[in-house]
This record gives sequence, structure tokens and C-alpha cells, in this order.
Amino acid sequence: MPKPTILVTGGAGYIGSHTTLELLLAGFTVVIVDNLCNSSVAVVRRLRELAGPEAPELHFIQADILDRSALDKAFAAHQPHAVIHFAGLKAVGESTRDPLTYYDVNVGGSIQLIRAMQKAGCHRLVFSSSASVYGSTPKIQPIPEHLAPSPSIASPYGKTKAHVEDLLQDWVASDAQVGVTLLRYFNPIGAHPSGQIGEDPKGTPNNLMPYLAQVATQTRPYLPVFGDSYATSDGTCIRDYLHVVDLALGHLAALRDLQLGVCEAYNLGTGCGTSVLELIHLMSETVGRELPYRILPMRPGDVKELRADPSKAQAKLGWVAHRTVKEMCEDTWKWRTLNPHGYETTGNAHEH
Ligand SMILES: NC(=O)c1ccc[n+]([C@@H]2O[C@H](COP(=O)([O-])OP(=O)(O)OC[C@H]3O[C@@H](n4cnc5c(N)ncnc54)[C@H](O)[C@@H]3O)[C@@H](O)[C@H]2O)c1
Ligand SMILES: *[C@@H]1O[C@H](CO)[C@@H](O)[C@H](O)[C@H]1NC(C)=O
Repeated sequence: MPKPTILVTGGAGYIGSHTTLELLLAGFTVVIVDNLCNSSVAVVRRLRELAGPEAPELHFIQADILDRSALDKAFAAHQPHAVIHFAGLKAVGESTRDPLTYYDVNVGGSIQLIRAMQKAGCHRLVFSSSASVYGSTPKIQPIPEHLAPSPSIASPYGKTKAHVEDLLQDWVASDAQVGVTLLRYFNPIGAHPSGQIGEDPKGTPNNLMPYLAQVATQTRPYLPVFGDSYATSDGTCIRDYLHVVDLALGHLAALRDLQLGVCEAYNLGTGCGTSVLELIHLMSETVGRELPYRILPMRPGDVKELRADPSKAQAKLGWVAHRTVKEMCEDTWKWRTLNPHGYETTGNAHEH
């Protein structure tokens, strides 16, 4: 029997594209709904190539999740069995300057999506949440799921994730026929090992790994490191990095397990911490030269350490992030060297 269709909002983006590929490889038909505000249509052709001629169909609909009629049309045309909801805005700094746009897209867009699901009778949703719902002073490390939500969430971005979690919980409480899984990602980095899809930030990268990758390609002279006097082994901040392919596979595990009438949250991380200096060192080793960095003052709001307790996902979903930080560095480097200018490299700006 053919596997059902999955509708993936934000499927052209970094995590969405890796998840779409794993869905196709596992035999699911996929419908991407993405307005391309932070991604390239070139992704779609690469996904079809990587999935191969035997893979189920991949449909692409360029639409905004705020556009209810476009969503209704997509649901009517494809009758998806479940939705994985990645679409949203995620630049923390920008969310502080323009909170209304973040609430509009992340919260308002989720509401439109849920309404479209209700209308179409689609009952299953997997939502991209974030470790940021744990706030800036998590009391326990590694962090278990029951710690959230936190009143100390530092950014409007993080708050939009907590609000959507709340509204999804209320939605499930109101209707025993729907089921939702909240996936709280820690720090996804890396790229598909083929080097054909990866993270392609426009402008100055907001996150450590994409910035470091641009230092490696000499697009940027050095990596700014914000603070080296935290109470950690080498004084720099510690994060729980996980390979984006492991993260993608976490979504397949969540879909497989999804039960109606419940809203469950899972951390997706490795449980291991890596400091900024350790990551620079591993990336330097991968690239074969010392990558320059400069220590700058600490940034207010930065958390010393963020590490997942991933035991719930392991016990209930049978999911474990296996790939090492070295593999994350190697796959990032392969993606960067094959695509020094991201998706624009191939000159396919006009493809459809
Ligand atoms: N990357 C991370 O470190 C991280 C961590 C935790 C949570 N998340 C969440 O995971 C999800 C995916 O993140 P990503 O890193 O792949 O980001 P991304 O920006 O690469 O992907 C988001 C995609 O959504 C699309 N999109 C944005 N607004 C839209 C709209 N109004 N209508 C339709 N499409 C829209 C963008 O074009 C993009 O393709 C986001 O919800 C993000 O908040 C990411
Ligand atoms: C766009 O994607 C890049 C790369 O993942 C990310 O750094 C940036 O925050 C995203 N922008 C928005 C507005 O979400």
C-alpha cells in the first residue's frame, strides 16, 4: 500500500528540506507549502534528484501560511494525512526589533494552518518548537521536557514558540480526534552528506556554525566569540549540537508514533555539550587550517549551557541522534565547498 501524503510547511528551508528528503526516501508523498521568504526554489529540484526516480512525488506550492484560501486549496487538492509545520521566522534579534511580524507569522500563521486542517479533516500535526521555550535560566541540565514553559524566555521569537505550544495543547484538549507532537530542537547544524542541500543564510549569519563556515571559506575574516569567562571548562558557552539529518529522522519517528487525543513534547538533541572553542577546533581540523576568532564581550541574555535530556524521545519514539560533531563539521564543509554561494551557485534562479 502506498504511504500517505505529508504536507510540509517551510519544506524549502534548512530543516524542512532535510526532513522532506527523508520522507521521500521512506516512501511518503510530500507537498511543500513555502513562500520562499527565506529559501530558494532550487531546493525542490535538488530534493527530487537526491530522492531518485523511484521516490514518490514531491509537490511544491509557493504560498504564505497566512493565506487561508491557498492553504484550503492545498489541503483539498492533496488530502494530506498529516502536517509537519516548519514555516516561520526564527531570527532572534529581528524578533526583538519587530515582534508583531513574528507573532503574526509564527502564531497567526499557525492558527490559519490549524483552521485549514480542521476544515479539511486533517488530524495530525508535528510542530517545530525550540529549546528556547526553556528560557534563559533553565534550572536543570540536561533539560527535561517538564521544565517548560518558562516565564524567562528572552526573545519574542522564543515566546511565539511557547504560545504556539499552548494553543496546540488547547486545540488537542478541545478535540479528541486530533493529535499533536511538539518537537523542541536544540542546535541543528551540518548538512546532507551529499553536499547538495544545507543551510543557506542570506546576509550575516545569526548562528555560530553558518558563520564559522563562512570564516572557513574566507567570506568573513574571523569568528566573533561572545565571552570566554563563563563558568564552563574553557569559559565559552556550551550547546547541544545535533546533525540536521538526525533531526530530520526525529520527525519521521514522531509521525510514526503520533497518537490522537494527546499533545506530547519531545526534546531533540544528543544530550552532549560542545563549547564554542571545541567547535572551532573541530571545524579547523576539518578544514585543515586554524580558523581565526576574536573574543568579544558577553552578550546579555546568552545562556551558559543548554543541553537536552533526550531520554524521552529515545524511550517513546525510539529515536537517538547518532551522528558526531565531527561529522556535522565535515558535512557542513562539504556543503560549503560544493556551494560556496549557497543555492545561487548553480545559476538556476529562474527554474520552477
Ligand atoms: N534552525 C534552528 O536552529 C532551529 C531551532 C529550533 C527551532 N527551529 C524552528 O524550525 C523551523 C524551521 O527552521 P529552519 O532552520 O529550517 O529555518 P528556515 O528559515 O530555513 O526555514 C523556514 C522556512 O519557512 C518558510 N516560511 C517562512 N515564513 C513563511 C510563511 N509565512 N509562509 C510560508 N512559508 C514561510 C521560509 O521560506 C523557509 O523556507 C522554524 O519554525 C524554526 O523556528 C529552528
Ligand atoms: C533564514 O535562514 C537563515 C539560515 O538558516 C537563518 O540564519 C535566519 O535566521 C533565517 N531568517 C529568518 C527571518 O527566519
